[in-house]
Order: sequence, then structure tokens, then C-alpha cells
Amino acid sequence: MILVTAAAGNQGRLLIPKLLRAGLPVRAVVRSESSAAGLRALGIDEVVVGDLADPAVQRRAVRDVDRVYHVGATLSPGEREMGIGLVDASRAEGVEHFVFSSVLHSIITDLVQHEIKRDVEEHLLGSGLEFTILQPSNYMLPLKLRPAFTRGVFELSWSLERRQSLVDLDDVTDVAVAALTDSARHAAATYELVAPGRWTAVELAGTIGDVMGRPIDVRRIGADTYAEAWLGDRDPTTATHELRVLRSISTRYSASDFVGNANVLTWLLGREPTSFAAFVRREWGAFRAAAGQNG
Ligand SMILES: NC(=O)c1ccc[n+]([C@@H]2O[C@H](COP(=O)([O-])OP(=O)(O)OC[C@H]3O[C@@H](n4cnc5c(N)ncnc54)[C@H](OP(=O)(O)O)[C@@H]3O)[C@@H](O)[C@H]2O)c1
Repeated sequence: MILVTAAAGNQGRLLIPKLLRAGLPVRAVVRSESSAAGLRALGIDEVVVGDLADPAVQRRAVRDVDRVYHVGATLSPGEREMGIGLVDASRAEGVEHFVFSSVLHSIITDLVQHEIKRDVEEHLLGSGLEFTILQPSNYMLPLKLRPAFTRGVFELSWSLERRQSLVDLDDVTDVAVAALTDSARHAAATYELVAPGRWTAVELAGTIGDVMGRPIDVRRIGADTYAEAWLGDRDPTTATHELRVLRSISTRYSASDFVGNANVLTWLLGREPTSFAAFVRREWGAFRAAAGQNG
């Protein structure tokens, strides 16, 4: 049995179908019944619904599990408790292999969500569990292309001149499948997962514009504006952690470039990682196909 956390999230949505196609039994953890229903419809064996920062949920999640794929949900105030508690529960349950999806350069402690992952990595290293740590760079997320596709503007909440490396989650989840199915080969490994290249927002918008065949504007938005969109109807005074994370991202990514090297991912995949241009072409095709279907 393979446990996948943040199962209806960006990674989980891609990883779970790959595991099911390989005929592997999967247990998923999500927070809401609606996501659980969606996962059951995919044909997943078991779904645990609850707050993974709760030790009782952690114990339930790992019972009779052989391998764990743990992703700490985005902006989650309980991310540290989730990771550390899940490592401890896995150790107590006799889990064979723990794969932790961390982040590129988790040692950067002025990024709040990196410091948390650094702490979880350290705890995992001292746990005695067999492990693989994945360190993906910034995700290539379809959601981030939406404003460009619908309004002709690419938006980022940090300096437009700073360079970033990115990675496609289809590539990340291919590596995740390898770590979960050929665990001995990937035991005690820490892998930086990065696509080739390092881009400013202006260059990213240029690539999007090339694919779409029209110029795309670039706009910097404030961390708090981004937070408002993320929080929706939620009262911002209840989101201290989320605001701290988003402001730290804006400050750090504006002060220095955030870049990595594609060698490790290229080696792991046995091919070139997906480029940003290929990602945009794929998503633009999917967007246009959906728009066509919707009339
Ligand atoms: N975005 C990036 O560029 C980037 C780059 C590198 C690393 N990362 C890291 O990657 C992680 C996020 O990965 P992701 O985007 O694949 O995940 P995600 O989309 O944020 O995961 C959302 C999933 O987590 C579940 N969830 C949320 N809170 C939960 C809780 N308290 N207990 C149990 N389940 C909970 C949600 O359940 P429901 O569906 O029921 O709501 C949903 O299924 C973050 O730690 C982030 O720092 C992100």
C-alpha cells in the first residue's frame, strides 16, 4: 500500500493516476469529503479524510502502509507538524520507505516554507527510515498561465527582473513513481528537480506570447494582493501563517535569483526535462480544446 498525502493537490492529481495505472494499491489523504469523493471516483482503494497535522489522522493514514509519498499542503499552518508527525508515525508503523517532496534549496531559512521543509528533512534523516527526498524548483502551474490565456497579462508577486528555475510536475511525478516503485535504487538520495533554464518574468511572458501568437503584458502584483486572491472569502486576520509565507516569498525572490541545475532531473528521467515552452504549448492546447468544447 502506498500512502499519498495532499492527494487532490497539484502533484497528487498527476501522481495518483500514474500509480493506479501501474496497478499499485493507493491510500490518499485529503481534508475534504468533496476531494475524497473525486478520488474514489478515480478508483482509489482507500481515502483518509482529516487534518494531517492531527496525530490521530497521521496514525490512521500510515496503518499497514509500505511506502509513503508526503507533500505538505501549500501554505498550511500545520505543515511542520504534518511532516514531523508523519515521519514518526511511519517509523512506529514500520513503513519501508518514506519519500518526502520538499523544495529546491530548503536551506534558505528566510523563506518560511523552506525552513519548515528543512526541519522535516532533518527529522527524516535522523528517523532511521529509508528515505528519498525530492527537491523540486518552482512548479510550472497551469493556474499561473490563466491570466495570460484569459486577459493577456502574466502576473508575479516578486521582482520581474529576477531569474527563476522551474519544473514541470509531470516530470516530478515520474520521478516520484520511480522512487516509490524502485525504492532500493533511490534509497538515501536527495534529488534536486529542475528543468533547464532560468528566466525573468519578462522572458516567461515572451515565451507565452510566442506560443499564443500575441504579445503578453507583464505585471508585478503585491504579496498581499496575491494573498487576497488565494484566501478568497477568508478573513486575512485568520491567515497569519499564509501571509508570512507569501511575504517572505515576495521579499526573497525580489532580492535574489532562485535557480537550480537540470543535470539530476535529466539523469533520473533518462531524457531532457520538459521545457517551459513545451509546458506552455501543452497547456495552451488544453485551454483551447476546453474553450472549443464549451462553445
Ligand atoms: N508551488 C510551487 O512552485 C512549489 C515549488 C516547490 C515546492 N512546493 C511545495 O509543494 C507543496 C504543495 O504541493 P502541491 O501544490 O502538490 O499540493 P497542494 O495542491 O497544495 O495540496 C492540496 C491538497 O492538500 C490537501 N490538504 C490541505 N490541507 C490539508 C490538511 N491540513 N490535512 C490533510 N490534507 C490537506 C487538500 O485537501 P482538499 O482537496 O480536501 O482541500 C488537497 O488535496 C508545498 O509544501 C509547497 O511549499 C511548491
